[in-house]
This record gives sequence, structure tokens and C-alpha cells, in this order.
Amino acid sequence: MNLFDVYPINPINIVKGQGSLVLDDKGTEYLDLYGGHAVISIGHTNPHYVKRLEDQLHQIGFYSNSIEIPLQKQLAEKLGHVSGKEDYQLFLCNSGAEANENALKLASFYNGRKKIIAFKKAFHGRTSLAVAATDNPKIVAPVNETDNVIFLPWADEAALEQAFQEHEVSSVIIEGIQGVGGIQVAPVSFLQKIRSLCDVHNAVFIADSVQCGYGRTGKFFSHDFAGINADIYSMAKGMGNGFPIGGIIISPKIKPAYGMLGTTFGGNHLACAAGLAVLEVMEQDNLLQNAAEVGGYLIDELKKFEQVKEVRGRGLMIGIELPEELSHVRKDLLFKHHIFTGEAKPNVVRLLPALNLTKAYADRFLEAFAQVLNSVKETV
Ligand SMILES: Cc1ncc(COP(=O)(O)O)c(C=O)c1O
Repeated sequence: MNLFDVYPINPINIVKGQGSLVLDDKGTEYLDLYGGHAVISIGHTNPHYVKRLEDQLHQIGFYSNSIEIPLQKQLAEKLGHVSGKEDYQLFLCNSGAEANENALKLASFYNGRKKIIAFKKAFHGRTSLAVAATDNPKIVAPVNETDNVIFLPWADEAALEQAFQEHEVSSVIIEGIQGVGGIQVAPVSFLQKIRSLCDVHNAVFIADSVQCGYGRTGKFFSHDFAGINADIYSMAKGMGNGFPIGGIIISPKIKPAYGMLGTTFGGNHLACAAGLAVLEVMEQDNLLQNAAEVGGYLIDELKKFEQVKEVRGRGLMIGIELPEELSHVRKDLLFKHHIFTGEAKPNVVRLLPALNLTKAYADRFLEAFAQVLNSVKETV
């Protein structure tokens, strides 16, 4: 049997990881500033994480949501504490798309409405509602098409106000920093506007924090920079440091009912152990502070390169927009300097490293980046 060939891949076989480094099957070491797409939050094979998962595996790996799973309550408590959203309620699932799917569905249950406001260049996942709220027609199958989603221009307050006048809005879903869309930071005033319009119209504010959340920006949720609380935050990626786990946290104003949401795998023992290990390491090693410091340093240094068009982002979620003639930079970083980075079309290098990235590794990247840009200057 062949694999269903949907991923354009690099010819590299990673067989081991430690912290911010990974090794391929030939023993070549790579610096990982991509984290398998923002997933590796506390570093590869973190010893506390490995031990917690291993210990749990020896106890019990899985049982369904038909029984008490105290690890879920521990995770909820810890998450409330670390995120500062102590009075929210946690629902666990398995991925970012599922988290958004549940958030959008819950919003509709809450206010009985259908219309969803999403934004240009948004990415919210590939399940039916999540993909319908994703601004990329290529990945929306005919069966996913719906007129329940209204796409508005990014950060356009007047368009938002008008949409609220014209429609019975169920929810507004927005990434605090668009990831796939090219590292676009949502302006503070725009997030505040969404909050006030949702309040006036009893609509649900959904903060997609799948990529930009979980401490990556130096605050637990990047929407926190606006000093507002969303009604639902969706999370996944960094939550399990590679173990598949996602979730939504839900404001106390939205009340649960038996059967309203559900999942087989969500919140299983192993997933909770992974989630707890991540939060324990984050807290113990002050990873939010590290993300803010090392990320701030990288952003400041990157702004000094004259060939760079723009540097965007917060903390360790950084986009480096390059001119078209530098479209090979990512490949050079990977194949000549052995540094993994992410990309956003058309020409943005995305940095999404582990939150405990050291300044020394940041410097290693900056030196390699300077060399790649200098080699271009020399050949021109
Ligand atoms: C902002 C955002 N939301 C949702 C998703 C979907 O997450 P998953 O791939 O875990 O379904 C992603 C994935 O890249 C994302 O970046």
C-alpha cells in the first residue's frame, strides 16, 4: 500500500530529538526553530515529560469519558492557574481543528444562531466548520461550503460593525496572531472592538489560540495583550508537546448539558499526563518569560537586516517577510546550515521554536541568517 500523497516533504528522516536539536538517520544535527509546526513547546524528549508519560503508560493509557478521570480535573486546575482563566471550564479533544469545531458549535448552541464571522487569510483547521471558516478555497470541499461564514477584511472595525448590523451573529473567530496567514498580529483595538460588539449583541468571541497560544508570545494567550477575555479559547499544538491533545476553555456564562459535546479519545489518561507535564515544565522553567525575552531579542536583531522587508510577531512566534529574490533563504537555512524554519506564502520565514530556546541558539540562527543574506549580496 502507498501513502496518500498529500504532503510535499523534505528528504530528511529525523530519528532523535533533544531540546531544540534534532538528529537525522545519518547523524546530522539540526537546530529546530519550527517545532514540527509550533507543536514542540518544551523541547524534544524533555526528561520530566518523558518520565510522566512513561509512568502513566505503566498505570493505564486510556479509558473513555464514561468514568472518572481525575487527571482531567488536575489538568483543568493547572491550566486555569497558568493561564489566569481560573473560572473557565475545560473540554478536551484531540486537535486544533476539533477544538475550533467544538467552539463554533458550542457558540451556536449558546445563542441559537448560525452566522460566523471570520477574517481574510484565517486558518482554523480542516474539519467541516473549521475549514468553512478558513480563508482558502482550495481546501474547502463542496460539501463544506456554507453561507453561514462571513469573511471580513483583517482588522477593519467599520466592516465588523456593519456585519453586526446586517446579521444575527453567533460567533466571531480570530487568531490573536495569524499563523498560516503570515504572522499578522491582531491590533489590540480590533480585539477590544470584537469584545464590545460581542457583548452588545450576545455573540460569542472565540480566540483561536491553537498556534499563537499556550505561552508562545510570552503571555499565555496572545489575545491577552488586548486586556480582554474571550468567551472560548481553542488550543492544541503546544499543549501536548507532540502528544495529540486539544481543547477549549469556556467562559462560565456558557452552561454545559449532558451530551452537548463529546469524544472518544479526548481527555484520555496519556493525553492528560502529557498536558500536565507541559504545564509543569512551563511553570517551573518560566518558559513564558523566556519566550518573551529570547523572542524579543530575535525580533530586535532581525529588524537590523536591511534586506528584510518586515519582521512581525510577538515572543517566539516570528515572521520574517523577505523580498521575492530571497525566496531560497529557507532552503539554504535547512540544507546549508541545518536549521528548520516554517514558511507562510508567499515569502515569509516563520520561527516557531520551543519556548525554552536559548539565546545561544538564537545567535546561531542569526549568524546563519546573516551568512545566507551575505552570500546573496556577493552573488548579485
Ligand atoms: C490557528 C490554527 N487553528 C487551527 C489549526 C488546526 O489544528 P490541527 O492541525 O491540530 O487540526 C491550526 C493548524 O495549523 C492553526 O494554525
